[in-house]
Amino acid sequence: MWRFPQGFLWGTATSATQVEGQVANEWTEFVGPDGGHCRRACDHYHRYREDIELMQRLGVNAYRLSIEWSRLQSEPGGRLDPIELRRYCDKLDCLRAAGITPMVVLHHFSNPLWIYRTGGWTNPATVTAFEDFVTQIVPALRTRVRLWNTFNEPDTYASCSYLLGEFPPFYKLRVKAFHTVINNMAVAHQRACEIIRRVGSDAGPVEVGFTKNWTFFNTLRPNRPWDWLLARISDRLFNHWVMDAFTRVDRNAAATFQGLNYYGQVRFHNGRSLSPARGRSREELARLGVHCDDMFERYPAGLGIALSDLHRRQGLPIYITEHGSACSDEAFRVADLRANLRAIHGAIQQGVDVRGFFYWSLLDNFEWQFGYTKKFGLHAVDFADPQLPRRAKPIAEIFRVACEENRVP
Ligand code: FCB
Repeated sequence: MWRFPQGFLWGTATSATQVEGQVANEWTEFVGPDGGHCRRACDHYHRYREDIELMQRLGVNAYRLSIEWSRLQSEPGGRLDPIELRRYCDKLDCLRAAGITPMVVLHHFSNPLWIYRTGGWTNPATVTAFEDFVTQIVPALRTRVRLWNTFNEPDTYASCSYLLGEFPPFYKLRVKAFHTVINNMAVAHQRACEIIRRVGSDAGPVEVGFTKNWTFFNTLRPNRPWDWLLARISDRLFNHWVMDAFTRVDRNAAATFQGLNYYGQVRFHNGRSLSPARGRSREELARLGVHCDDMFERYPAGLGIALSDLHRRQGLPIYITEHGSACSDEAFRVADLRANLRAIHGAIQQGVDVRGFFYWSLLDNFEWQFGYTKKFGLHAVDFADPQLPRRAKPIAEIFRVACEENRVP
């Protein structure tokens, strides 16, 4: 039995474009391989009260959500839309009434169209525009929010948009654009930290950080120089270089925590990455000894390593802002959850200050370039039914016990 520290945050996570519906950003016109789009998604925009009830049933004491910039600011320098702001305030009030602490993400893979059409994060003017947004939204929510997550996975956003051609604007191999996006986001993150720390919160001590997706890059077989090189370059670029860009700051502009999203590892074989996200089937990969969900190779022990490394590197408290798995085999998902919680528990025992864990995700939802084909939910959503009914999956019960008892049996 693994008991977690008192006050540990147990939550679920979602992002606006993936669950809300009715968004007008660069994803609105996108249609996934299954014909799925985000125009209705889980209709969380209208059903957040019902979804908060699902959270209450899970017994979570926290929830990571993103605020959709495009909803709130329709033009450069514009005032925040009062109706949409009131809606977010109501959602935050419902969370508080349910005893659920919100962690608010300011940027989760989407932008207002007026930002997107002027070059997005390759344009330095976006840094100033984002700063203006932060300068308005943080005081507007200061009575309700104390935990702020500036950017979600800048490395994923920049690489999928400018290197891999998977996110709008679907560019490939634009290395310079990748660098520019990361550098601009890093400056915007630092300015946001400064604003958030200065404004403070009535909800308690303010905490702020960005979230790094940590993926291990390895080779399938030893002594394969080409695979080794690919793994090494990926690690340097996506992990270390991005971390360095985001942590090169003076103390007042510094984050107070590190957010970590962790799914597993990517191994290279004959110059190609072995991952279902890159078009290989789970069965084909299993024959090579690579055990995956529908997206990533699982590597629970890696979570302990990532936590210890980040702790050594920065000495900041860490929130695991996302972890989860997607597949129809619930026994696999339960085993994966337990193994990852065990790794977290082990890291805590060794002195790493881990403050919370947010399961990705509360609901099956719009999984970006994959449409609705990857099912990460603790709850299934029947997208074929116009009522979009939610149904708890078996893994939800295991998670509920962890949340309610602050331990993993
Ligand atoms: C993360 C994203 C999240 C979701 C999960 C599966 O990289 O932050 O939106 O797509 O992966």
